[in-house]
Amino acid sequence: MFENLKPVAIDPILGLMVAFKADNRAEKIDLGVGVYQDDRGRTPVMASVKEAESRLMKLETTKSYQGMAGDPDYNQRMMELLLGKDHSILSTGRVKSIQAPGGSGALRVGAEVIRRARPESKLWVGIPTWPNHIPLLGSAGFDIKQYPYYDMDARQVDTEKMMETLRQVPVGDLVLLHGCCHNPTGADLTNEQWDSIADLALERGFIPFIDTAYQGLGNGLDQDAYGMRMMAERLPEVIIASSCSKNFGLYRERTGSITFIAETSEQADIVVSQAMSTARSIYSMPPAHGALLVSMVLGDPQLRSQWETELEEVRLRIKSMRNLLCDSLENNAAGMDFSHIKRQNGMFSFLGITTPQLERLRTEFGIYIVSSTRINLAGVNSNNIKHLTQSLLTVLE
Ligand code: LMR
Repeated sequence: MFENLKPVAIDPILGLMVAFKADNRAEKIDLGVGVYQDDRGRTPVMASVKEAESRLMKLETTKSYQGMAGDPDYNQRMMELLLGKDHSILSTGRVKSIQAPGGSGALRVGAEVIRRARPESKLWVGIPTWPNHIPLLGSAGFDIKQYPYYDMDARQVDTEKMMETLRQVPVGDLVLLHGCCHNPTGADLTNEQWDSIADLALERGFIPFIDTAYQGLGNGLDQDAYGMRMMAERLPEVIIASSCSKNFGLYRERTGSITFIAETSEQADIVVSQAMSTARSIYSMPPAHGALLVSMVLGDPQLRSQWETELEEVRLRIKSMRNLLCDSLENNAAGMDFSHIKRQNGMFSFLGITTPQLERLRTEFGIYIVSSTRINLAGVNSNNIKHLTQSLLTVLE
């Protein structure tokens, strides 16, 4: 039977990661996959996470099954992290969360539950978006519609066109939104834009499906949560897929959550039972390790404050690399405006160069960038900035 299969092209982001590893050049630079790197180009385990890991080694007494919803303590702490400990919805029973295998697993469980609830609902996705959103959510069976999100010329959110399209979204459809640190553009919604989308959701009756994978990497843990907290307050139904890959550095541990806000606590209980049965039908239950670490870090005042300090360092380093790259390019008169890089949030921005220029960067200079020209600013450091700037100027000539 396998003779019927055709080979599939390798994933554009994960494929780049493999190609980078295989490159032997000492001066190579990885601006591809969205993984944090420190100034020495390493992706360390956070000290708070490492400490939790060593405590867990001593405390853990069993590796027995945990259940489809994962760790209840983690689920509670994640809701508090996402929505804020004092959010009024937390005491209503209208919000429920279960652990999921990473942000991708969370998106998939969320999508399956939506499809069970209302199979005719369409999913509206802002363009551009994370390249895996459409394959991942499309494979759950959604009919996917698009709304314009980013103005490539003005290098900012295309508010007018976005709102114009969202005004057409029919009742009961879902609208995918990035919680913060938009991937791939780095152009986030302002608080006012979030408010306007919430107004529209109430008016039209569409439901926000928020993907939040970078809380704490944009403007801070609370600031980055404005949109989802406000929507949780104002709207009857919201779905949030979240990931601890970036803000806890737990990438390979596949630690995420799917959070449902329903109109009543009875409905929330039903939704979560559906989410657990979805999990059972795909992977039974999520992996425990990463979630146990997160729950320990968030639940221990000393580890939590250490983690917040480390996360703040990550956030500030990325911001300073945005400034460094932009200033280095402008000081060298590249002839292009890169000032949007300074204004944007999180790991990514578009460089806005051409495909042949991008190819030359890879083949001649060992600089790896996703084909959309999305760069991971965390891949820039004080050692490679010179090679990066000079190579860019060469291809831009
Ligand atoms: C990225 O966008 O680079 C990351 O979220 C990794 C991935 O899975 O694509």
